[in-house]
Amino acid sequence: MRSGIAGTGSYIPECRVTNDMLAARMDTSDEWIVSRTGIRERHLSAEGTAAMAAEAARRALEDAGMTAEELDWILVATVTPECFFPSVACQVQEALGAKKAVCYDLSAACSGFLFGLQTADAYIHTGMARNVLVIGAEAMSRLVDWKDRSTCVLFGDGAGAAVVTAVSAGGIRTGVLGCDGSRGDSLICSTGHSADGIPFLEGTGEDGEAAPTSLAMDGREIFQFAVRTVPEVIREALAQAEISTEDVSLFLLHQANARILTSIGRSLHVPMEKIPENLAHTGNLAAASVPVLLDEVNRAGRLQRGDTLVLAGFGAGLTWGAMVLEW
Ligand code: COA
Repeated sequence: MRSGIAGTGSYIPECRVTNDMLAARMDTSDEWIVSRTGIRERHLSAEGTAAMAAEAARRALEDAGMTAEELDWILVATVTPECFFPSVACQVQEALGAKKAVCYDLSAACSGFLFGLQTADAYIHTGMARNVLVIGAEAMSRLVDWKDRSTCVLFGDGAGAAVVTAVSAGGIRTGVLGCDGSRGDSLICSTGHSADGIPFLEGTGEDGEAAPTSLAMDGREIFQFAVRTVPEVIREALAQAEISTEDVSLFLLHQANARILTSIGRSLHVPMEKIPENLAHTGNLAAASVPVLLDEVNRAGRLQRGDTLVLAGFGAGLTWGAMVLEW
């Protein structure tokens, strides 16, 4: 049994923060941010990851014409849960009343939605599930260091969701995922928990204070990784589907940087009209990036039944993935 996307939804929080608003607080400028990244503004969440995820999910279920009770699984891709446990997926289950769903979170950073879709496809393919809700949701504003101008200007908050269901024709054709843990340090955010020692014996962590997180990125290394790896993984997914770039209507790529998108387009010889961008108003939404873009093009009426789409992501881990699907 193949799987396909029956409905999409997204949620972007109300609070809008422009580059000029950042420049009023730190040594940066609209000109620097726009010319280096293409980002003009981002939205920051007052409500948190689980609430944004639940709202995107409600909209996706409505678009699919499905009720929450029909969901077999809920998968949430996120690196910004409010709690270590329970999972965001369980919080979404409660918010939706999706009583029979099995729920868990998965962590693959900005590639997370692709990993979730591939997992949903496998469950449906093997008959373990019929309807899977896949969500990418992030409150990156909770994670970034607002004193580090080299990273905090890049990210935003939001959530996107897709209802994946069994289909008799079309749907997901191929998916290719990859990871390289040896390059994990090039984009890393520690929990503040040490990998060494025994806190109880060493008397640390006794004051009950939360351990500080710290996000560190080698921007140039990540840039090079993205422009090299994303075209490669897209070519691999297309080859497995036995189609070429000309057969693809839209390439929905992780929205990290407009220059990365342009470079990928050039490398694949794909015109930029086929590579939609929304990062100017969202910033980098990590795992929420691809599903929010998918929902935006869907609601804008840019997807016709039978269209071939490529979805692709890359991010910390390092992780990457591409998927070919028929709408
Ligand atoms: N405002 C103004 N100046 C800034 C700045 C900011 N927000 N952030 C950094 N700078 C400064 C740096 O301090 C540096 O100054 P110096 O030359 O005096 O040391 C200068 O700008 C150039 O920094 P550099 O890192 O060389 O810029 P860049 O052209 O590589 O662009 C990124 C930086 C982060 C925009 C770019 O590397 C990038 O987008 N990489 C990919 C990141 C990404 O996509 N991450 C998410 C992956 S999912």
